[in-house]
Amino acid sequence: MIKGDTRVHSLYGSPVAHSLSPVIFNTTFQKLSLNRAYVPFEVIRDNLKQAVEAARTLGFDGFNVTMPHKTAIVEMLDRLDKTAEKIGSVNTVAQTKSGLAGYNTDGEGAIRALRSYGFEPNNKRILVVGAGGAAQALVKRLSSENNNIRVLNRTLDKARQVADKATGTGRISYGELDKSSLEKGMEDADLLVNATPTPTSTLMSQLEILVNKVKSIGWVFDLAYDQPAEPVPVGRGTISPLEMLVHQAALSYEIWLGETAPFALMRSSLENYLGKDWK
Ligand SMILES: NC(=O)c1ccc[n+]([C@@H]2O[C@H](COP(=O)([O-])OP(=O)(O)OC[C@H]3O[C@@H](n4cnc5c(N)ncnc54)[C@H](OP(=O)(O)O)[C@@H]3O)[C@@H](O)[C@H]2O)c1
Repeated sequence: MIKGDTRVHSLYGSPVAHSLSPVIFNTTFQKLSLNRAYVPFEVIRDNLKQAVEAARTLGFDGFNVTMPHKTAIVEMLDRLDKTAEKIGSVNTVAQTKSGLAGYNTDGEGAIRALRSYGFEPNNKRILVVGAGGAAQALVKRLSSENNNIRVLNRTLDKARQVADKATGTGRISYGELDKSSLEKGMEDADLLVNATPTPTSTLMSQLEILVNKVKSIGWVFDLAYDQPAEPVPVGRGTISPLEMLVHQAALSYEIWLGETAPFALMRSSLENYLGKDWK
């Protein structure tokens, strides 16, 4: 129940109506009898600054940030953790004594999701499609594990920037996303990470690539979960974006509450809401 002293968390983005984060957090808070609530707010680009100031004024205990604000918000915060600073993108904000602190959990959330499927992202050939905030975070994290990474993006310059910021020991290359680069990249990849909002099946049909070409890939990991996706016939299997979502929620919980997150409870909150497990 919301009371006079309920602590508030929120989500800023546009759109946010599809978000499953409120389900995960509010069910978990309720089950643990925590006097906290998580409320999503539709915040358009022009209103982000006022929304950040509102979070300060109203004393939100922390909030998440999603598309299209993850880069723009960087300038509006008082400090950034090392990862958020290096990639210039924030998805979690904490209210601290020294003001609003920005974090980015995309890379860590993705790695935890991959490992939960038994995929050890070390010395692997990884093809990343997309070069936005999520791709940036993932490539940076994956490049520290000695992987051989190729980044393909519609806008070549952004793929180059992602590759340039990856400072790890692995090999990294980039190119423009088109039919031939995607077909070639898929030939021997252990993992395809699709960090665009478009499902892999749709991307392939838009580029006129036969869906069975994907069979040569070990795993496919679509990050987006807000559009229905046709299954693709991959070699080993698909990594669900929902697994990453729950890991990200757990990381936010730990940043905000300063204690280990109840991961199993958070995961089952979403599973019960959806009426099925996604693994
Ligand atoms: N499961 C999770 O927990 C989780 C976590 C983070 C993100 N996500 C999802 O991951 C996706 C990417 O997030 P983001 O923050 O990186 O977004 P972003 O910064 O807006 O980047 C989007 C990327 O997708 C590319 N793109 C967009 N539409 C495309 C299309 N039709 N065909 C080819 N490429 C296209 C863009 O290319 P250009 O550079 O050419 O514009 C850009 O590289 C979103 O759907 C987001 O919801 C999920």
